Amino acid sequence: MNKTLRRAAWSALMLGASTLAVQAEMVAPTTPPDPPKFDAQGEPIFVNRSDIFEYKALPAYSEPAWVTAFVDAGKLPPVAERLPKEPLVYKTANMPDGAGVYGDVMRHVIGGRPEGWNFWAGQSYGWGGIDIGLVECLTRTGPLFTVNPADLQPLPNLAKSWEWSEDGKLLTVHLIEGAKWSDGDAFDTEDIDFYWNDVIMDAEVTPLMGATEATYGNAKLTVVDAYTFTMAFEQPFPESVLYAMAYGNFCPGPSHILKPKHPKHGGESYEAFQKAFPSDMMNFPVMGAWGVVEHRPDDIIVLRRNPYYWKVDENGQQLPYLDEMQYRLSTWGDRDVQAVAGTGDFSNLEQAENYVESLKKAADPASPARLAFGPRTIGYSLLPNLSGNGWGEPNEGSQAVREMNRNADFRMAISYGLDRQRLGDSLVKGPFTTIYPGGLYAGTSYYDKDSTVYYPFSVETAKAHLEKAGLVDTDGNGFVNLPDGGADLNVTLLANAEYATDKNLAEGVVAMMGDIGVKVSLSLLPGKDLDNARDSGRYDWFVFRNATDLITVVQGTAALAPVGPQTAVNHRANGAGELDLMPFEEEMVKTVNAFISSRDPAERVELMKTYQKLYTENLFAIGLTAYPGALVVNKRFANIPAGAPIFMYNWAEDNIIRERVYVPADAQIGAELHPNTLPGELGGAGPVTAN
Ligand code: GLA
Repeated sequence: MNKTLRRAAWSALMLGASTLAVQAEMVAPTTPPDPPKFDAQGEPIFVNRSDIFEYKALPAYSEPAWVTAFVDAGKLPPVAERLPKEPLVYKTANMPDGAGVYGDVMRHVIGGRPEGWNFWAGQSYGWGGIDIGLVECLTRTGPLFTVNPADLQPLPNLAKSWEWSEDGKLLTVHLIEGAKWSDGDAFDTEDIDFYWNDVIMDAEVTPLMGATEATYGNAKLTVVDAYTFTMAFEQPFPESVLYAMAYGNFCPGPSHILKPKHPKHGGESYEAFQKAFPSDMMNFPVMGAWGVVEHRPDDIIVLRRNPYYWKVDENGQQLPYLDEMQYRLSTWGDRDVQAVAGTGDFSNLEQAENYVESLKKAADPASPARLAFGPRTIGYSLLPNLSGNGWGEPNEGSQAVREMNRNADFRMAISYGLDRQRLGDSLVKGPFTTIYPGGLYAGTSYYDKDSTVYYPFSVETAKAHLEKAGLVDTDGNGFVNLPDGGADLNVTLLANAEYATDKNLAEGVVAMMGDIGVKVSLSLLPGKDLDNARDSGRYDWFVFRNATDLITVVQGTAALAPVGPQTAVNHRANGAGELDLMPFEEEMVKTVNAFISSRDPAERVELMKTYQKLYTENLFAIGLTAYPGALVVNKRFANIPAGAPIFMYNWAEDNIIRERVYVPADAQIGAELHPNTLPGELGGAGPVTAN
């Protein structure tokens, strides 16, 4: 249709033309265009899980000589006594550059700030891999990007093995035996018991990543002995629970430290429990490879090696190889700049605005950093808050928006109103970004284009759907009013102030919505405030950087739909625990639950097609853009696996297996801030020396 005709049809529509005329004007939904070709640099080398590591006793163990000085001074037991009976042994054959040497430091830069060390009561450490390095979880998924599809299952970690009963309703989990916290206390089922009963099952305590019973298929957990526990399920073989045991859900805290502060065990109050380990308290016991020994607010956090770390190489060298980890407290954008310049060592290049500049610098053979693009797994969605029954206690205006959010025509209007090509190009021009209608990403294993419904950009169609939703500009101010002569519909859009990309996308959304007559005001909040607003439902719309569920499906499966009162990001239960699901959401829940309980690969593929159709046709959330990320690592580091994505089952800080990364002796830069020291006592001044 030419422009004049189109305009004529549009005015006919505005005059309340017949449905026929309206239909003639509407642009029909279609399938999304294929993403521009963009080759990832570096393919992973696919192996089986058992090629990466095993648990076994070795004839002898060693440690850096300066750690032996602690043993000699009577300040530490000998290394063999600090290790478990059968440590986790990384196989040399799977190490990209072989067994390593000790020393040096990885200088991270992060945009977040630590709130305190009570991860289990919801405190953030500031992200950027700091918590990933401090907490260890029962299973591990980051390195799965390199595992053969036929062997795809979580890697053992603190859980050394597990088995299912014949009927699949009982899972028995065996912990590594004799592993110790960084203060020497035993890691065992006391830690599991505390995590389960006093964190997960205690409605007053929510761990950082929001796990609840539903995360683990509503299991009943029973401790059997010091290193064994079982989980009983109603459904047979809910294997997704093994993924839920990886970062950041089943990562137990030190019960010997946390329990005395918990109100059920003599602690003062829940608030006091949460705040009992403030970010200036040093040496919080960890199972991770490094523990925090220094924190200068807005400046730096320094971690030193954990002398009780329970992983070794085949030569018996206790890991990690790197003695120190640093986290400069700056901005996320600065992380890119510093990594490329060589003053920082690591970045997940994920803010597309920085791509061209970073690529240019990294292309110089003299560049200190390696930059490698991976698959298109960074994606953003616009989440409409789908609760109509009071989650987040909306005021009258917000409640009106919520009701509109629950109207399919309104969601379609939003989708038609978005020029996704322009949104992507506004971040970076070139073959990076792709039109993303929502749901599973193109290029991932469960994606099916024919099951993907895309409402292409069309201002006219968007406006027609607004009208169908009862939204018309009755007062002529350019913005649609609520039905029955109501006030302007006024949507508040929440976005993360810490990331340029989030802010730019949100601004793009505001402008495009303005063009179809929807008034949107932007509310930018920093990290933790934003997470709180999101998790408590205090928003109308939200610009969300998608999580791993939409890439892998098997990781974070429960988050794919509102299967539990707290599982979905944009639709949770109100204060009374009621979830007001719409019919298509009920269908999504059924589909996801069927996926969780199915072990038939062909059936699972079909179920995900149904899921994708339900998600994209009904616009459970509205996709914005998707693009590849690049891993930037300083060239002096060895053992960085080929093809490590910045984000897939987990972030690159987990994917690259940092405890196995090293710097060859002649490349070490001598940047350690606390050489020859180890974490000291909890609450002590900081790191300690051997003498
Ligand atoms: C932040 C960063 C990511 C990654 C994660 C790790 O979200 O933006 O690149 O470092 O932290 O938790």
